Amino acid sequence: MTQSPTPIHETVQEHYAERIKNSASCCGPSDCCSPSNILYPEQLLTTVPSDVANTSYGCGDPITLASLKPGQTVLDLGSGAGLDCILAAQKVGETGKVIGVDMTPEMIERAQANVKKVNLKNVEFRHGYLESLPVENNTVDVIISNCVINLSPDKEKVFTEAFRVLAPGGKLAVSDIVTEGQLPEPIKQSLSAWAGCVAGAVEAKDYIAMMESVGFTEITVKPVFFDKATVDAALADIGGDFDLSTIARDDIYKAVYSAKITAYKPA
Ligand SMILES: C[S@@+](CC[C@H](N)C(=O)[O-])C[C@H]1O[C@@H](n2cnc3c(N)ncnc32)[C@H](O)[C@@H]1O
Repeated sequence: MTQSPTPIHETVQEHYAERIKNSASCCGPSDCCSPSNILYPEQLLTTVPSDVANTSYGCGDPITLASLKPGQTVLDLGSGAGLDCILAAQKVGETGKVIGVDMTPEMIERAQANVKKVNLKNVEFRHGYLESLPVENNTVDVIISNCVINLSPDKEKVFTEAFRVLAPGGKLAVSDIVTEGQLPEPIKQSLSAWAGCVAGAVEAKDYIAMMESVGFTEITVKPVFFDKATVDAALADIGGDFDLSTIARDDIYKAVYSAKITAYKPA
């Protein structure tokens, strides 16, 4: 790994290492794993065991967005416990291949164990940073990612790397958190809010500009708004290093949303 971890990487890594360790004996109707059936159509999850389906930290469904085809090579940025890699591997079949990259060793371990459970041979996990992907140039047909790019302290580098590894004509299909307008300053300054996928989120227009600047074309960003209860639950989950009572909740409800993002590397 050539990227040196920044304090943000370290905080984010600690946060997700802790979360996956604490989920070891949970899953199901529990507060430690995201309810993946809210994010994906139920039908999509019938091919995986429920404990695997429920260990999700995503904010959308990049699998449906990607429209994967048999034989494709797929790269998942920030693969977590491996759910999207497993779903992608089932779509691309034995002639295709899926690579998951994640910087948190505990996540890689869980993802490998989950892949064994479903007995797939076409998935591989690599330990690494999104800002310095351990993947060859021009080798990937589709990049997916679920609620991860917002966590990077250098998103432009992530897009540069994504563009480098995509084959000409390749597609990026990402679910991520972005904002409309600015978040309240105490949230932006909070490392725990960064690890909780809020503080690192940038305005959708800046996200698009970064993708354009590295060469992506045909960029689309479709918002999926959260209800207030979901935002409240996420804020309660973050806890930590800021006083929520000093912040107008409406400013957060208005600003933060999940987006379905697609883009292409020109052929
Ligand atoms: C919110 S979780 C999402 C995991 C998975 N995509 C899912 O939907 O369950 C974020 C994951 O991205 C990884 N991650 C965050 N920033 C990263 C970076 N800069 N490089 C590599 N992995 C990163 C974390 O270790 C964690 O596993």
